[in-house]
Amino acid sequence: MQIHTKDARRSAHDFDAQLPEGFDDAHRRFARLRAENPVARSQDFGGFWAMLGYEELTEVITDIDRFTTNKQNAIPKFAFTGVRPPLHLDPPQHTSYRRVINHFFTPPKMRALEPVVRRCVVELLEPLIAEGTVDVARAYAQKLPAHVFAEFFNLSVDTSLDIKAVSGTYVDAIQVLDHDTVKGLSKRLYEIAQAIIDERKAGSFSAEEDLTQALLEAEDDGGPLPDAMVLGCVRQLIVTGMVAPSVFIGNMFVHLSRDPELQEHLREHPEDIPAAVEEFLRLYNPYRGMARTARRDTVVGGQQILADDPIALVYTAANRDPRVFDDPDSFRLNRENISRHISFGRGTHSCPGAPLARMMFRITLEEALSRSRFDLTGDPGMAKWAEWGTNHVPLEFIAMGA
Ligand code: HEM
Repeated sequence: MQIHTKDARRSAHDFDAQLPEGFDDAHRRFARLRAENPVARSQDFGGFWAMLGYEELTEVITDIDRFTTNKQNAIPKFAFTGVRPPLHLDPPQHTSYRRVINHFFTPPKMRALEPVVRRCVVELLEPLIAEGTVDVARAYAQKLPAHVFAEFFNLSVDTSLDIKAVSGTYVDAIQVLDHDTVKGLSKRLYEIAQAIIDERKAGSFSAEEDLTQALLEAEDDGGPLPDAMVLGCVRQLIVTGMVAPSVFIGNMFVHLSRDPELQEHLREHPEDIPAAVEEFLRLYNPYRGMARTARRDTVVGGQQILADDPIALVYTAANRDPRVFDDPDSFRLNRENISRHISFGRGTHSCPGAPLARMMFRITLEEALSRSRFDLTGDPGMAKWAEWGTNHVPLEFIAMGA
């Protein structure tokens, strides 16, 4: 394999991260770039490497000896943000937090949550279907995660909607590099996290039923987890649980509007919906700016990377690598190697929330398809780097039997 010298590619600018995009543009652009350089380079945000290839991205996320999350876990970097477990920590410190978190996503916990998630879906979806013409991204995709998260995290719906509103503006401010707003909103999110912790300290929940309480009671090296780390962990959970589902759900509605045959098939065969959700997860991963930093000089995919170089994990692109997925831009129900998609990451930092996310998406499709037909009434609007996905989806629902 040819190894590029640092000088040959360090000054390259293979792509602008912040170009305005339509629904299909980013994937087309990444496909062209990946064919030439699975490890691409951009000078945006101070310069970074972008893992566009599946093998290259997987190599980075599974090798914690060479790559760390504790210097920079997103591109662009906002230097003033504090340490937030579990994503900002490497093992062994990471393990204590994940042990607590994982317990809240087990199959029994998910089974208990299913009727609650279905109620949230139906309460939000029914009036929209009755209304007919809606923006399903704003009126549904950006609301459902807050309602579900309120139930999952034992918050009032008002607190959860407040978190959603603040974190939505926070993500928008990151996308336009508005440092002052990001700083102010990050502080606000810490205050909300602290209020949740203070409420738990008043003794309202048991550690078995409440994740925050479980973090407060967890032990590490024989003592409690440090207060600042519990705060950082709650602060991380309240945001990560809401951002990705908000930009993902609208993508499924866009895809199914553009493929009425598939829409009809899933309506007739709801047993195929879980498989369809997996293929949607492969096709429409919402993350392209999560990051690692090289601990030392190293080589990935033939490209030399220097110590301290930031590296973007472009999940959006890696899941469509033709070296792994045949005809990668096509939707294939029950694709034979679908279990290889890396929409939820892999290894140490793989997404603990995956079972809850899958449940929200499956129930959304079950309820939407059994109650309506739908079609786009205009072009979708798109989020900007570091997310990929829809933030506006103008849609017409036609209620079944109408
Ligand atoms: C469309 C839905 C979602 C997608 C595609 C997704 C994807 C991911 C990915 C790719 C990572 C790994 C990041 C990395 O390697 O740096 C991750 C981590 C994480 N996700 Fe998700 N996620 C989703 C929903 C959720 C939900 C609903 C929750 C919680 C309720 C959640 C909580 C987390 C947490 C806490 C981490 C950090 C894990 C760690 O560092 O050990 N995610 N997610």
